[in-house]
Amino acid sequence: MTLILNRNEVEAVLNMKDCIATVEAAFAELANGTADMPMRSNIKPPGGLSLYMPAYLKEMKALACKVVTVYKDNPVSHDLPTTIGKVLLQDPATGDVTCIMDGGFLTAVRTGAASGVATKYLARDEKGMTAGIFGTGVQAQMQLLAVCEVRDISKAWAYDINKEAADKFAVLMKDKLGIEIVVAENPEELLQADIICAATSSPTPIFDGSKVKAGTHINGIGSHTPNARELDTEIIKRSKFIGDSREACFNEAGDIIIPLNAGEIHETHFYAELGDVVTARKDGRINDDEITIFKSNGLAVQDAATAKLVYDKAREQGIGTEITI
Ligand SMILES: NC(=O)c1ccc[n+]([C@@H]2O[C@H](COP(=O)([O-])OP(=O)(O)OC[C@H]3O[C@@H](n4cnc5c(N)ncnc54)[C@H](O)[C@@H]3O)[C@@H](O)[C@H]2O)c1
Repeated sequence: MTLILNRNEVEAVLNMKDCIATVEAAFAELANGTADMPMRSNIKPPGGLSLYMPAYLKEMKALACKVVTVYKDNPVSHDLPTTIGKVLLQDPATGDVTCIMDGGFLTAVRTGAASGVATKYLARDEKGMTAGIFGTGVQAQMQLLAVCEVRDISKAWAYDINKEAADKFAVLMKDKLGIEIVVAENPEELLQADIICAATSSPTPIFDGSKVKAGTHINGIGSHTPNARELDTEIIKRSKFIGDSREACFNEAGDIIIPLNAGEIHETHFYAELGDVVTARKDGRINDDEITIFKSNGLAVQDAATAKLVYDKAREQGIGTEITI
């Protein structure tokens, strides 16, 4: 029997706190060599990008493959989200597919969770901190939720080139988190924040990196192709650079590939993978003045671990529909 979980059912069992713990364990498995994760395969149909993301986590007994698509015109042209995905979860003992679940909400939560893990290890830790959120789409919501899960955040600024989207975000997130959310008039306003999340669909830098204050932590999650970047060369040069995966960053992240190809940084600028910091092979933040960047491309281990978490909880709670395929 195969369990089918729709978006509402995934939402009913998946919360950010548990997902951060699970994704942290997945990054540790990656660093410890108990994860198997081939690079994702990409196909580019007209107007979009289709990604195939398989992974196996031995300790967690999680074997899965996600199919995720990014179609930038979807919201305007088809009233559909930019990012859509489905996850196929298998039993590692038999290979049988035990569950097919919606991956849209799961992707947003596991992407937020990776930033949550990075923020936990890399951001300063003080009372009443502030966050600056670039972009106010689905991913941006989860970025703010995750940051608030691991740090004491009292205020956030949000900036989007679509002011209407930013206004909606502010109302929704104030309601969810009970903190002050200010819709910024320009990108500069966000640079006073202690923690910045870049979660836009922009292919070009979204703020001036020379104006970022010392001690800031940045999660850069939006761009994921070699020619696109949200972060400019200046902020890359000024920061300690941590990536979700070295291989993914040097193959997919324009944020580091563009300055590298221009000869403005050397490969050694890549300081560590997040898993190295989680497992204490490498230091995280070492003082209050460092600027730290976590570059997230999105890894299949995050999906496999989160899908297993969702499946186990759904089984425990008797949620979902069983079918014979
Ligand atoms: N790293 C990962 O694991 C991961 C996972 C899923 C999605 N993503 C990426 O995250 C990004 C956001 O995804 P989403 O689903 O929230 O998309 P979305 O389209 O719902 O939201 C993106 C928002 O960014 C805004 N924006 C575009 N340019 C901007 C700029 N210069 N400044 C401020 N705002 C700007 C848009 O107006 C839009 O509201 C996409 O690029 C997506 O591919 C990354």
